[in-house]
Amino acid sequence: MRLVLFGPPGAGKGTQAQRLVAEHKIPQISTGDILRAAIKAGSALGTKAKGFMDQGKLVPDDVVIGIIEERTQQPDCATGFMLDGFPRTIPQAEALDAMLAKRQQRVDHVLSLEVDDAVLVKRLSRRRTCPVCGTIYHLDFSPPRQENTCDRDGATLAHRSDDQEAAIQERLRVFHDQTAPLKAYYQQRGLLRAVDGSGAPDAVYQGIRTVLAR
Ligand code: AP5
Repeated sequence: MRLVLFGPPGAGKGTQAQRLVAEHKIPQISTGDILRAAIKAGSALGTKAKGFMDQGKLVPDDVVIGIIEERTQQPDCATGFMLDGFPRTIPQAEALDAMLAKRQQRVDHVLSLEVDDAVLVKRLSRRRTCPVCGTIYHLDFSPPRQENTCDRDGATLAHRSDDQEAAIQERLRVFHDQTAPLKAYYQQRGLLRAVDGSGAPDAVYQGIRTVLAR
């Protein structure tokens, strides 16, 4: 199964991806995670991406398309994969279709998590993540047992540099301007599966299971 997890910043893509990975045993490919790892490693890719990401802007299409082209050809993607945060522009979606067509493959479903902007701001401003295992927390909705510490491995939790007020607002603006048009793109292709993302994480996941079973 080849899935696209689609939705605005803070919609819960990463949160739901962890559940989908556990159930479907397909790798999660998050362009955001790959770019953050490159920044941490100090690579040329990271240096190029950092300025865009800190300001809440999109990294250039050719950079992220190259990442996906390479990653989706790894052996663990042979039976499927889940794209989290890609595509985010029409050119990215067209490039994805073209690269899969060359391999006689296609996207099976696009899961669109629907959440209002006011809720997104609350989710992003209070998010924390474990830099070691990637577990996602929220200080109010899913707090760690011990303050600022990952329940799984005891690491100190991180606050993403783009989860500051100005960057959050810019990410939402960029989403509505450049990414939201992809809904029509996938609707026209009969692939869009809208899911209410505003409930509790387990309720959202039930919604995902329901649309995937149709
Ligand atoms: P990326 O890392 O992809 O960030 P994003 O799309 O902005 O999404 P987030 O990771 O912020 O949110 P999410 O939907 O995963 O929500 P989460 O589950 O964490 O991209 C970052 C940057 O990288 C971009 O701005 C861009 O610069 C660059 N980039 C990446 N891909 C690119 C591309 N394809 N092209 C160009 N540039 C690219 O949840 C958020 C919070 O809410 C958490 O605290 C969580 O605990 C909480 N929460 C989740 N679900 C619920 C719920 N149901 N109820 C209550 N709380 C919830």
